[in-house]
Amino acid sequence: MSDELFYSLIISNIISVLVLYFCAKRLLKYRRRQKRAFTFKSYPIPQCKLEDVHPCFTQSQLGPNPSSAVYFIGGEGVEASLTDRETWVVAALSKFSNRIFEFGTCSGKTSHIMAMNAPNGAQVSTLTIHPSQFEQLSFDANDDSVHKTIAKKEAKFDFFYYSDLPTSEKIEQIFSDSKKLNETKLKGVFDLILIDGAHTKSYVESDSKKAFGMLKKGGVILWHDYKPEAPDVFSYLNNLAQEVPLHHISDTDFVIYKNKQ
Ligand SMILES: C[S@@+](CC[C@H](N)C(=O)[O-])C[C@H]1O[C@@H](n2cnc3c(N)ncnc32)[C@H](O)[C@@H]1O
Repeated sequence: MSDELFYSLIISNIISVLVLYFCAKRLLKYRRRQKRAFTFKSYPIPQCKLEDVHPCFTQSQLGPNPSSAVYFIGGEGVEASLTDRETWVVAALSKFSNRIFEFGTCSGKTSHIMAMNAPNGAQVSTLTIHPSQFEQLSFDANDDSVHKTIAKKEAKFDFFYYSDLPTSEKIEQIFSDSKKLNETKLKGVFDLILIDGAHTKSYVESDSKKAFGMLKKGGVILWHDYKPEAPDVFSYLNNLAQEVPLHHISDTDFVIYKNKQ
């Protein structure tokens, strides 16, 4: 092999490695920004597109349908919140929901966005554990320990994003451990329920059972954090999908259930 060929092979290899390195770096940065983990594995729950979530997402000739327009605030710097695409989904569904329930308020940014987009006269009820009560959380022995700690760490809000804003008039703040929520008077009331409280097995199971009872005919349940990094949510939903029709909304960590009865 001539010296010239040898050196040009070395240079082209170096260039290929550099190109691969920068592509991978960019991809990982993008996934981090989306707050989603990088994985090649497909998830067990079948995916659906945004247009299957609600007709307002049906694409027009030039892109997103004008009826999917929402009041929106980006997620930069907000603790434990949704990605911008997830926020778009929640905000758009809120436009068609008179009664909304959220398990897990955190900063209250999502509650504010739901209230901004919901029709006049709508109510958003959002439930969270009060900072003074976090020691009362009643985990089961086999609840994921990482998410036990996270649930306690996030129980620090008693002033919320919406607190000083006009949307507070549409928002009912409930302070309670979600296992203690008495849902018997809330049967069949809600058009939209977001499950985003403690991400441990016993809690996601309890919150989901309550949510199914609280859902109105034609209503929608969204679960956040359907991903292997939230193993209890991931496995609970994978098992549930064997019994009820669930879909994983593409490029989000949302799973959706539509009550079509
Ligand atoms: C992931 S954050 C919610 C994020 C919020 N939905 C948003 O989009 O900005 C979870 C919240 O649920 C609360 N939480 C955790 N366990 C709870 C429980 N057992 N009962 C009520 N709230 C709980 C946490 O304190 C935290 O505020």
